[in-house]
Amino acid sequence: MTEPELDVHSEPGDLTEALRTDVRSGFSAAQKWLPAKWFYDARGSELFEEITRLPEYYPTRAERETLDREAAEIARVTGARTLVELGSGSSEKTRLLLDGLRAYGTLKTFVPLDVSPAALTEAVKAIQAEYPGLDVRGVVGDFTEHLGLLPGQPPRIVAFLGGTIGNFLPADRLKFLRSVRDVLTAGEWLLLGTDLVKDAGTLMRAYDDAAGVTAQFNLNMLRVVNRVLGADFEPGRFAHESYWDAEHEWIEMRLRAREDMTVHIPGAAIDVRFDEGEYIRTEISAKFRPAGVAAELAESGFTLERWWTDGQNRFGVSLAKAAGDEMIE
Ligand code: SAH
Ligand code: AVI
Repeated sequence: MTEPELDVHSEPGDLTEALRTDVRSGFSAAQKWLPAKWFYDARGSELFEEITRLPEYYPTRAERETLDREAAEIARVTGARTLVELGSGSSEKTRLLLDGLRAYGTLKTFVPLDVSPAALTEAVKAIQAEYPGLDVRGVVGDFTEHLGLLPGQPPRIVAFLGGTIGNFLPADRLKFLRSVRDVLTAGEWLLLGTDLVKDAGTLMRAYDDAAGVTAQFNLNMLRVVNRVLGADFEPGRFAHESYWDAEHEWIEMRLRAREDMTVHIPGAAIDVRFDEGEYIRTEISAKFRPAGVAAELAESGFTLERWWTDGQNRFGVSLAKAAGDEMIE
């Protein structure tokens, strides 16, 4: 099959420049860190898909259970003509929404947006084959930068699934939700997946699985820095760790140096010193409480219309309407 045409807002050169900037600022901070989006080259996206099938990683199954149960209701309430999906990855669960909206008869266009061209290409190819007649417009881009350019007729529903909203720090999360509200017209929709606070053991196991897939996913970020910026990280000299921060109610993924070392990063023109025991924070994954989700949606200009969870109350799905009185054309 021929490769699908994608609308590319992030060219490989832009990504190299962005990684260079993030590496310089993240590795000069007192607590070294890198943004989670750098997990997702082709290998990282594959590893994430493997994570979603792990017995310990419940969020994907829990969210799928709710989407399966509520897809027809989501279609009925929204009557969406366009489904936009941010951080779409494989769009595996999204098929439940596509099925619901197609059965209801309103859906014309699907716009998956992802920073990972490999994941997006596979997903677009598969969905074009499975949904003949659906206008599929894949966008390679960054959901913190490229929301203003999204195609599709109103009413639109923007799906942000998987709990990826939890990968923002709280202040960035609000900024992001407001930016989504800004590109919508009042009366359009946001479907948001949020992982919920639960016992620390369940959370820790979900981010430190017995088979070591999450460890490989975490270490993949070092491989990305090596490939893109010519760095000489030796992943074996770092240990994967997950940590439940009970005060902030988020999981942190960390890579802890097993020994003292200096890493050369020629593409960013820096050398970085690591002391034994020092760690890089590679991700936060915030866990939510229902009242907190409702408050943040309200603060960002949305009215919460529906709130659902899976049977075990592990994962929340919100359907929220852009508030205000501008009119959909
Ligand atoms: N929505 C899917 C995938 C979640 S994994 C699910 O629920 O299973 C997170 C996805 O977001 C990955 O595909 C990753 O490539 C993408 N992503 C991460 N940061 C991004 C960013 N800043 N802009 C666009 N996509 C991003
Ligand atoms: C994409 N995101 C919601 C995942 C999460 O659970 O925070 C990424 C992930 N990190 C480790 N495992 C999965």
